Amino acid sequence: MTENKLDVYYHNRHVGTLAEMPDKRVAFQYAQSWLNEGFPISPFSLPLKNEVFIPKEGSRDKFLGLFGVFADSLPDSWGSLLLDKYLMSIGIKKESVSTLDRLAYIGESGMGALEYRPCKKSDYSIDISGIDYDMIASECEKILTSKPSDQLDMLYNLAGSSGGTRPKVLLSENGKEWIVKFPASNDPSICGKREYDYSLCAKKCGINMTETGLIKSTVCEGYFKTERFDRIVNHKKFVITFSGLLETDYRAPSCDYDTFMKAIRVLTRDNKEDVMQMFKIMCFNVLTHNLDDHTKNFSFVYDDERQWRLAPAYDITYSDTYWGEHTTSVNGKGKDITDADLIKVGTNAGLSQKKCSELLDEIKENIKDLDIYLNHKPKRKSGKVKPTDRMSELSAKEE
Ligand SMILES: Nc1ncnc2c1ncn2[C@@H]1O[C@H](COP(=O)(O)OP(=O)(O)O)[C@@H](O)[C@H]1O
Ligand SMILES: [Mg+2]
Repeated sequence: MTENKLDVYYHNRHVGTLAEMPDKRVAFQYAQSWLNEGFPISPFSLPLKNEVFIPKEGSRDKFLGLFGVFADSLPDSWGSLLLDKYLMSIGIKKESVSTLDRLAYIGESGMGALEYRPCKKSDYSIDISGIDYDMIASECEKILTSKPSDQLDMLYNLAGSSGGTRPKVLLSENGKEWIVKFPASNDPSICGKREYDYSLCAKKCGINMTETGLIKSTVCEGYFKTERFDRIVNHKKFVITFSGLLETDYRAPSCDYDTFMKAIRVLTRDNKEDVMQMFKIMCFNVLTHNLDDHTKNFSFVYDDERQWRLAPAYDITYSDTYWGEHTTSVNGKGKDITDADLIKVGTNAGLSQKKCSELLDEIKENIKDLDIYLNHKPKRKSGKVKPTDRMSELSAKEE
């Protein structure tokens, strides 16, 4: 049955209600109790006010008619593919499933802390002891290449709510929650080990990441796993991606690291540690060919002290974009980025020139560990990145 209203919950507290409008956009209103003691779940788009919020026209193309913060709860291509196939297997056509239905299928299992009721699926987690990862990788490949898989139900339950493009599963092990990533069809067999090596190197550069690991395989160099920062021992942490917060389409170049810095300064009340983190991540991404630095690859966490903080870094690995430039520009440039460009973003964000140079030198020294991956760096093509409306709005707010 198609839902046209859905309630949003956080730690069993009613946050508000979503309602589908005739034009398929999904309006939102906070619950009175949340207005009294909650926090704005998307500070720029949904301030704590007693009104009916309606997403912009463009939300239909970008976010299936939702505000970005709710679109964050929906899976990206891999999870959506699993949901579509699962629905097909129980005789439901994907065309007949509305955006609110999709959220209802996510129910309590979404990334972050928001839950949707009435839900069509309950939270599902299994102990991974004894799981055959090579078997999972092979079943994922079957799904990606449209071959029949008899493990569809298991994969859907393990990853139907996951974000990102690559196949992955969400699991708990030894009291911790993990994301395990598998290769996409065009990934080399080294990709799991490479992402693991990148994570070790990023940590050495002082970049904050959760625990990471490499799972052994008999068919490739291993599978990358990372501890979830939105789950701490059965406790759900509220997270929002930069895409959700800034209402930007993560698939297209839409932001500059300067915008990211502004968002951090506004949201974290100029937390110097977070500004430095972003500076280090930006330098690392530029120096290690992580071109796919789009707005869903960065998040904020709302912590227990009721403060916004930059989330630990993730999806830090060698990556290309098909236009050959960084998805997020540096000082307006998507390619041919110089030290001066990097330092300009840092100084604009209030870091001293000396601090920026020191951090940059430290990263240059440490990334020598990744030389094996960087020696065959492909040539990049040209083009300028166009800022979005949201970016100018945010700049206007700050200035
Ligand atoms: N350690 C983590 N903790 C919590 N959420 C994460 C973590 N790593 C990734 N995510 C979330 O999962 C999504 C997909 O992960 P990502 O590593 O970006 O995969 P992909 O390579 O498929 O893009 C991210 O966009 C982010 O929202
Ligand atoms: Mg990603």
